Amino acid sequence: MLSDDRIKELREYVSSLEHPEEALVDLMHEAQSAYGYLSDEAAEAVADIAGVPVIKVEELATFYNLIFRRPVGRKVIFVCDSISCWVMGMENMFDYLKKKLGIDIGQTTADGAFTLLPICCLGACHVAPAMMVGEKLYGNLTPERIDEILEKERI
Ligand code: FES
Repeated sequence: MLSDDRIKELREYVSSLEHPEEALVDLMHEAQSAYGYLSDEAAEAVADIAGVPVIKVEELATFYNLIFRRPVGRKVIFVCDSISCWVMGMENMFDYLKKKLGIDIGQTTADGAFTLLPICCLGACHVAPAMMVGEKLYGNLTPERIDEILEKERI
C-alpha cells in the first residue's frame, strides 16, 4: 500500500505534467511494487492519483508485459520465446525450467519464489537462449546454468 506521503508526492508529480496520462506507466510500476501486483485496488489508486478513469489504467496495463494483473511470485522468470532463442534451443530450456520448478508457463511455484512467463525478444539474441529473472538478464542458458541461476535468485 502506498503511504499518504508518497501519494501526496505522486499527486504533485502528476500535477506538474501537461497530460496526467504520461505518468501512468510509472504510477503502475510504483503501485505494483507496493501491492505486489497491479490489483484492482492498486489500479484504482493509480487512477485516483492520476485523475483518470480506472478503465484507462486497466487498458494500459494490458499492453505491458511487466505489469501483472494477477499475483506473481517474488521473482518473475521471463523466458524468451522469440526466433533466435528457439533456434538456439530454448524449447529444451523451457522444458527444463518447467520440470525443475514443477510448474507450467503462467504458474507460480508452491513456495511463491518464481512465476514462469514467456516474453518476446529480450534484445539479447547474441547470447540466446536467454531469460530474465526479475530485472536481471541471463544468456547462453544450459540446464547447468539454469540450476545456478535459480539457486542464486531464489529468495
Ligand atoms: S530472440 Fe531471444 S533474446 Fe532475441
